[in-house]
Formats: sequence, structure tokens, C-alpha cells
Amino acid sequence: MLKDRKIVLGVTGGIAAYKAAELVRELVRAGAEVHVVMTKSAQAFITPLTFQTLSGNPVATELFSLIEESEIGHISLADRAEILVIAPATANIIGKIASGIADDMLTTIVMATKAPVLIAPAMNVHMWENPICQENIEKLRARGYQFVGPESGELACGYEGKGRLAEIPTIMEEIRAILSPQDFAQEKILITAGPTEEPIDPVRFITNRSSGKMGFALAHAARRRGAEVTLVSGPTALPAPPKVSYISVRSAAEMREAVLNNLNSASILLMAAAVSDYRPKKTAPEKMKKSKSETLLELERNADILAEAGQHKGQRIIVGFAAETENLLQNARQKLKEKNLDLIVANDITLPGAGFEVDTNIVKLLDPSGKVEELPLMTKEELADRILDRIGQLRKL
Ligand code: CTP
Repeated sequence: MLKDRKIVLGVTGGIAAYKAAELVRELVRAGAEVHVVMTKSAQAFITPLTFQTLSGNPVATELFSLIEESEIGHISLADRAEILVIAPATANIIGKIASGIADDMLTTIVMATKAPVLIAPAMNVHMWENPICQENIEKLRARGYQFVGPESGELACGYEGKGRLAEIPTIMEEIRAILSPQDFAQEKILITAGPTEEPIDPVRFITNRSSGKMGFALAHAARRRGAEVTLVSGPTALPAPPKVSYISVRSAAEMREAVLNNLNSASILLMAAAVSDYRPKKTAPEKMKKSKSETLLELERNADILAEAGQHKGQRIIVGFAAETENLLQNARQKLKEKNLDLIVANDITLPGAGFEVDTNIVKLLDPSGKVEELPLMTKEELADRILDRIGQLRKL
């Protein structure tokens, strides 16, 4: 989604300026066209050559340089930008923007642009807490400027506290969100992800190979596109997505409770979790000891959360997933019908690049009209957007 998007990155003079190099790399890797603008003090920390090499574009530093003005031009950069990101942003630049000062290349571009501006502050904790700085931020927020971070932690100045530049993936995520269409702004989306764990005894459980990546990708994409997202997830190694209400569960019973508690307020349910169909009939209170003989584990059925939600469908859109090893279309069609779904995302987990634990998937989207849309191999991130596109079309019917 960042491919060919025009991003102007302002770098100001703080020790975190070196981290902006990583941001440029990530943006370029994602296919964006990046133009870097540096303030004079930024150049005391890192050279324009670094950014020029990483971005593949000339770096703007001087407002009144004949060459730069003719080649780059503050107005042309301001007009060309689809988003202006300032990372790291010092207390000084925040103060200047808030006061309407435009006395160098960067502040002039900020003044002249109609593009959204995302500011990633980084500074000493006392500077951050200074009421003047906070007032400036409030003033800018009220005018529509957006902020990401700062985060808390160890600061370069030796202090502990708020002031660290937001992590690069967090800044990337905000850039993506700002550049995304807000076509789900009216929707409340409930998403499930990951496996469940059904306890056998205090140390053992039954689970499956779901990594949670598909559900998390859906949560990221839906949030970026403006939805209010609740993510109910079984145990995974993934960090909770930003600006998403996150409910962590273990067993299918806990997942069921969380889903049913949040279903009423949701306009869309996306059930990407790999829910265990069975649980041990008894959970041993103490660790089970081995014996010489064989042992049998008796299992009982868990409730089918999706089918239950399908019974209380109302106006909401319900999407299920079918991970199959055989008879893909036939099994998926049956689940679509039996669980009263609007869409089912079916994948043959035996194909290379599909299924659990990988970053990609190959799926077919089936709807109740019998239509089958076959999607090629793509990342789970891309697939999340394709699924949302399809739901967007269903919403319009
Ligand atoms: N699902 C659910 N509750 C369960 C089992 C599955 O909500 N107890 C949901 C999954 O989240 C998924 C869909 O139902 O969206 C299909 O799950 P799957 O396990 O593939 O199908 P099952 O209906 O359980 O059928 P089977 O195990 O026989 O393939």
C-alpha cells in the first residue's frame, strides 16, 4: 500500500536522527518515494549523504540555495507530499510549527503543505513534560497534526522516562493508517486470532499450529482503515496491535465468552482463530504422573463459537475461515451454509505457502451465492486488505 506513495520525511536535530535512516530504508523497501528534508542541526548528527543514498533522492537542506530551490523547491515538495512525517521531531521544531514560524526548508514545507503531517517527537523527558511543549502539542493536535510516540524508556541523555522516538514499525504503521482509505470508519469489527489451549493438567494442554498472523493482520488492516477493532486472541508470540482493544484468552471456552460479550456491539465478526473442537473431559488438578501402562485421554466437544454467532447474526456480517487438507470447496461450502456466514476464507493448508506458521496464504473466498474468488499467493497482510475489500462490497449490497 506504500508503493509509489510520495512521502516527505523531515529530520530534525536530535540524537534519534540516526533512527530516521532506518525509517527511510523501511519506507523505500515498501516501495515508497521518499524525499528527505533536514534541518541545520540534524546535519550535526547525520549527513545528508546517508539519506540521499538510502532514499535515492536529493536531500533538501537549504531554503535559499539556488540549486536546491530549482531542483527540489519547498513548494514543489509541499505539493508533492502525500504525507509529511517529521521524525525525530525536537521540542524546537514543535514549538516553531505551533508558532507559525517558517524560517528554514522544513518549517516552510510544513507551512505550505496541504498533506497530513505526522510528528514523531524525541527529546529529553523534562523537555517533553515542559508545559510549553505540551501546550504546543495540544495546539497542533487541535489543528489536525498527528503524533506518534514518544515512548518511555532509557533516554540518550541518561534519564529514564518518556521521550524515546516511537519504534520504527510503530511509525510505519501510523503512516500506513494515515494513507489508507477510511472506508471502515463506521464499523466495529470483532476479530479472533490464534490457537486455543485446552488444559490437560497444570503443565500440559492441547493446541494447534496457528500462529495468529492472519487474525492480527486483519486487526491491523481494519484499524488502519478506520474501524474500531476488538481482537480476541489465543496465545501467540505477536505483540498486540496498536489502537486495538485487545482481549487475551487461552481456552475455547474463554474465547467463546469474550466473543459473545462483544458480539452485540460488533457490525462485523471475523473468526480467524483456530478453535479447538475438543477439550479434555477432566483437567487434572495436579501434574499427571506417567505409569507403565497406556493411558486414554477422554475429550468432550467445545461449543462452535462461529455457529453460535451465526444464530444471532442480525444485520452483522460474519466471516469464517476453513483450513482444510482435502475437499476444500465442498467442506468450505458446507461450513458457510451450516454456520450462516456471509463469506468463508478457505485454504488448503497442504499447499506450499499456505496455512499455519507462514507469512503467506493462498485462499479462495466463497459466498452464499456460490461465487468462488480464487486469490493468488500473497502475504497475510495483503490478504487482510483483500478480505476487507470484499466485505466492503458486501456492505454495499
Ligand atoms: N470455529 C469456531 N468454534 C469452534 C471451531 C471452529 O468458531 N469450536 C470457527 C473457526 O474460527 C473458523 C471456522 O469455525 O472460522 C471453521 O473452523 P474449522 O475448525 O475449520 O471447522 P470446523 O467447523 O471445526 O470443522 P472441522 O474441524 O470438522 O473441519
